Amino acid sequence: MVNGAKRVLVFDSGVGGLSVFDAIAASGHAFDLDYAADNAWLPYGLKTDEQLRVRVPALLSRLVEQWAPDAVVVACNTASTIALEPVRAALSVPVVGVVPPIKPAAAQTRTGVIGLLATPATVQRAYTDDLIAQFASDKRVIRFGSAALVEAAERKLRGEKAQQSAITEAIDGLFSAPGGDQLDVVALACTHFPLLAAELAAVAPRPCLWMDSGEAIARRLVHVLIAQEGPSRVQRAAFTSADSARASLRAFKARGFSDFSHIVEAPNFQIAPFDDASSA
Ligand code: DGL
Repeated sequence: MVNGAKRVLVFDSGVGGLSVFDAIAASGHAFDLDYAADNAWLPYGLKTDEQLRVRVPALLSRLVEQWAPDAVVVACNTASTIALEPVRAALSVPVVGVVPPIKPAAAQTRTGVIGLLATPATVQRAYTDDLIAQFASDKRVIRFGSAALVEAAERKLRGEKAQQSAITEAIDGLFSAPGGDQLDVVALACTHFPLLAAELAAVAPRPCLWMDSGEAIARRLVHVLIAQEGPSRVQRAAFTSADSARASLRAFKARGFSDFSHIVEAPNFQIAPFDDASSA
């Protein structure tokens, strides 16, 4: 551990949290960074609110017991918009959640029309309605929910080609909606989607601003942990499905991870050795 470095656990359903991890790693602050993905349950965007309110706190409290981070980043909008309260109640360390970037998108639009691209769960959450009412009540917000884009990002990070149909469908859903011809800012309210920013921009009918929450989360974390300046160090990554993680390991290795574990669900989310990590 770098002297004085704070240990941070970044959590998502899959590889999406890597977009937040990247912003934290680039923040210039001394963090020891661990990553956990509940990829056995991917996609969270198709789970019920109740399922997530039970699963996410149970899993995170076991990870915190075993890895003892100084803070947890719930790098998943779908979980943050429904389960932050039970997660905070279950954990003894600070929890930083992801907020759909509606406020900065509303501040940046010149036309008054913003897009909100998220999972099917996040687009229809009361939390999202409240953010829009609070920060974008004088704007037109075009919402589009896509689980297919989550899978497209997973595929891209496995080194496969992201499904073009998922990208085209999302762009059509935003730009062909009423008012879509005026759209100039898109809030990427799923952490998987910044990983596809280039693909989305390539298909969009005109240039627009694609906003995500990564840098805001990194700033929040520095503030919450009173982090020192210095290099971050990449530590461990763990997955609830070792089998599906295997195909994505190159994306983790490219970020400096070399220590991989399997979170064994039964009986109680035990972190166990992940064999065959070198096969990716
Ligand atoms: N990356 C997650 C988010 O920010 C969700 C992906 C999923 O549906 O599992 O919403």
